[in-house]
Amino acid sequence: MKKRIFIVDDEPKIGELFVTVLRRDGFDARAFVNPLAVLEKIDEGVVPDVMLADLMMPNLNGIELLEALKKRKLMLPVIIMTAHSSVQTAVEAMRLGAFHYLQKPVNLEEMRALIEKALDLYDAKKELHEIKTSQAASHPIEGILGDNDSIEQVRETIRTLRNVPNTIVLITGETGTGKNLVAKTIHYNSTYNAGRFMEINCAALPDNLLEAELFGYEKGAFTDARDAKPGLLEVADGGTVFLDEIDSMSASLQAKLLSFLESRTFRRLGGVDDIRVTTRILCASNANLEEKVAEKSFRKDLYFRINVVNIYMPPLRQMGRDVIEIADAVIYDFNQELRRDIQGFTSRAEDKLLGHNWPGNVRELRNVLERAMIFSQGNRIDAEDLILSSSLGLDEISSVNGRFQFPTGRSLEELERAYILHILESRKDSYAEIADVLGISKKTLWEKRKRYNLDEEATRP
Ligand SMILES: Nc1ncnc2c1ncn2[C@@H]1O[C@H](COP(=O)(O)OP(=O)(O)OP(=O)(O)O)[C@@H](O)[C@H]1O
Ligand SMILES: [Mg+2]
Repeated sequence: MKKRIFIVDDEPKIGELFVTVLRRDGFDARAFVNPLAVLEKIDEGVVPDVMLADLMMPNLNGIELLEALKKRKLMLPVIIMTAHSSVQTAVEAMRLGAFHYLQKPVNLEEMRALIEKALDLYDAKKELHEIKTSQAASHPIEGILGDNDSIEQVRETIRTLRNVPNTIVLITGETGTGKNLVAKTIHYNSTYNAGRFMEINCAALPDNLLEAELFGYEKGAFTDARDAKPGLLEVADGGTVFLDEIDSMSASLQAKLLSFLESRTFRRLGGVDDIRVTTRILCASNANLEEKVAEKSFRKDLYFRINVVNIYMPPLRQMGRDVIEIADAVIYDFNQELRRDIQGFTSRAEDKLLGHNWPGNVRELRNVLERAMIFSQGNRIDAEDLILSSSLGLDEISSVNGRFQFPTGRSLEELERAYILHILESRKDSYAEIADVLGISKKTLWEKRKRYNLDEEATRP
C-alpha cells in the first residue's frame, strides 16, 4: 500500500509542486488549500500517514489544525512549513505535537528525509501501541479465573497495584496455579508499563549467566564478553522484570538483588557507573520461602524485602465447584481456537472433574480439557473423554541415596493406592502374603482393593 501524504497550503502552487514530486517518489499525495477541507476528509475516514501543513493560513492556522487533530486522537505526524520569520512559532508547534518543521522555501531533499523519518518513527510507535493494547487486552484481570474469595482477593490486589509504581510482589503457589499469568496481568494492567515485560527463570541458568542476564556486562568483563550488553533490569526500565523460581537464586546473587532493591541502582559486571532504573520486580516461587529462610538457604532480609505484597494462588483442589466454572471458561476459549462447539459436561464428567485432586492445577485442567475436546465426538464432554492421571505411577517416586523422593501435591491416599498397586503388580504371591508384605490384615487389603478399584486396574502376574 502506498503511503498517503496530505499537503495543506493556501498557496495552490506549492501544493501542486509537492504533489508532483511526491507522486514521482511513489506516494499517494494530495493537496488542499483549505485546512477545513482536510479535516472533513479525515472525518470521512481518509487519514494520511504524514501531513505537511503551512503555518500561516486563513480559516485555520497550522497550530489550530494541530489542535483539531489532537482532539481526534490521531497519531499522525505533522510537518509544519514556515517562513523564516516565524521559526519561533514553528518550534511552538512542535511543543504541541508537530513532528518537525521545514523552512520555506522548502528544500526537497530535506522534505523527503523528514517524511521518511516521520514514517519510520510512527510505524514503530503504532506497532508498539498495537502490541501494548493487544497485550493488555489479552491479559484482562478477569482472565484470572475462579469465583472464590481467594481469587477475588487476587484480582482486587492487582486492581490496587495498577496505579502503584515500582511495587515488589511475591507470587506464591503450587505449579500451574497461574503465577506467570498473574505476573503478566500485573504488568499489562499497570499504568506504569511503558517499558517491557521480561521474565527469567532463576532455576534455568547457572549462577554466573543469571547474573550477567540480570545486570548486564561491559566489554571484557569476562572471557566471552566481546561486547557490552545491558541487563534485563535496564532492558525493562519503566516496565517489569519477573524473577521466576526466585528460591533457586544463589546466596551471592540474592545479596546483589537485595542491594539493587534497596538502592534502585546497580552496576553492570565489570562496569563502574551506577545505573538507576525504575523497573518493577515481581518474584515467584512454588517453594515455601519461609522454610527456606528457616533452613538458611534464602536470605531473611531479602525475603522481607520481596514479601511486601504477597499474592498466594490457591491450588485447584481447594476450589470446590469452581473447577467446573473454570473448566467451562477454558472450554469457551478452546471452542474458538479449535473451532468446536462443545456445550459443557455430562454429570458423570463433572463428578470426575470434582473428584480429581489436580496436582498440576489449572495447567493440568487445561491440558486434560484440550485433549478431551480434540477427541470427543458429541457436543458434551463425557467422563470417558477425560483422561486423568489419577493413578499415580510409582515411577513418579524416585529413590535417591536410599531416600525416597515423593512428588509434591499428592495426597496420602494417592500414594497409598500407588504403592499397593505396585506391590500387587510386582509379586506373584497370594493376597495373604501381600497383606503381610504391606503389614495389614487380609480384610484391610480387600477393603483397599475395593475402595481404590485396584482389581480392575492391577495386572497381576
Ligand atoms: N486462575 C487461573 N485462571 C485462568 N487461567 C489460569 C489460572 N491459573 C493458571 N491458569 C493457566 O494455566 C496455565 C499455567 O499457568 P502458569 O504458567 O501461570 O502457572 P505457574 O503457577 O506459573 O506454574 P509453574 O509453577 O509451573 O511455573 C496457563 O495457561 C495459565 O493461563
Ligand atoms: Mg510459572
